[in-house]
Amino acid sequence: DMYKICVIEGDGIGREVVPATVNVLKATGVDFEFVHAEAGDEVFEKTGVALPEETINTAKECDAVLFGAAGETAADVIVKLRKILNTYANVRPVKAYKGINCLKDNIDYVIVRENTEGLYKGIEAEITDGVYTATRVITREACEKIFKFAFEMAKDRKKQGKEGKVTCTHKANVLKLSDGAFKSIFYEVAKNYPEIKTNDFYIDAMNMYAVLRPETFDVVVTSNLFGDILSDGAAGTVGGLGMAPSANIGDEYGLFEPVHGSAPDIAGKGIANPTATILTGVLMLRYLGENKAADRVEKALEEVLENKLTTPDLGGTLTTFEMAEEVAKRV
Ligand code: NAI
Ligand code: MG
Repeated sequence: DMYKICVIEGDGIGREVVPATVNVLKATGVDFEFVHAEAGDEVFEKTGVALPEETINTAKECDAVLFGAAGETAADVIVKLRKILNTYANVRPVKAYKGINCLKDNIDYVIVRENTEGLYKGIEAEITDGVYTATRVITREACEKIFKFAFEMAKDRKKQGKEGKVTCTHKANVLKLSDGAFKSIFYEVAKNYPEIKTNDFYIDAMNMYAVLRPETFDVVVTSNLFGDILSDGAAGTVGGLGMAPSANIGDEYGLFEPVHGSAPDIAGKGIANPTATILTGVLMLRYLGENKAADRVEKALEEVLENKLTTPDLGGTLTTFEMAEEVAKRV
């Protein structure tokens, strides 16, 4: 198969970590055609538009999108692109790699965050002078979709030897109606997956468990705001932003991006850690069904991390491209 990939480097270190990752993807021998498209601060300064129509069209024509980072225009670029492509599931693996300073060495779970509604629906108002509201939207339709997605993921992971468990996290004791529904729809959907274990925790307790016993989770599913907060904390337990990949998945499109931003403080110095973007490439390979190539990239990266052939933030002395080259060599 030949895959067309829409590559959006964007701003700052996006221009370093994305091309470095494209080199690694080329080394897999998978037949890719990379189609470059522009978005972010630089194109905004040139044209007054942060996310050009042409980029949206290219993204829609391709089999997947690999995105680096935008700077100050991030909301108008990546948040907008997620909406346009209707990627309702935000997938964030939380995995401890050897050689990285992690809370525990056996952490390996995935946070699945609902990406379209909840408190981020964007319905805010000043109802009277000095009184502001934000409306939290939970729909049965979006719940069913995200839970089905989480259970399918647990099924796949079980085949690869993982526990086969989905943990739902919510605040149904306080948000009785909206999260009451969220929790009960979770257990409704669970009935279709008798082979998958289930449990649920309140989000505040979940946050503590993510620190005290992160090794007990397999797939964790939650609503938009809770997932945003939980996943950044969880990334902190496995080495932080330089290590955190993500995927935005919908029924038609897949949009893949490292969690970090454009990092203007280190941009242009060649020291950005490419790991998050390389792991994002691994997620993209799996989405395309190229599991063998994904395994090879992940193994190669593991070797490189263990041998400290890394950028300075991980204790090594290599540049972004040199580190990616060490990975590509081993692929
Ligand atoms: P940031 O993620 O760009 O950087 C935070 C800190 O982590 C910085 O000290 C940076 O040097 C470090 N860092 C990030 N990625 C790294 C990597 N791969 N290797 C080594 N160190 C790394 O977040 P910040 O500073 O809050 O935002 C900077 C710009 O990025 C802003 O303009 C913001 O709007 C944008 N942004 C864009 C995002 C996106 O496009 N998805 C997400 C977050 C922020
Ligand atoms: Mg966030």
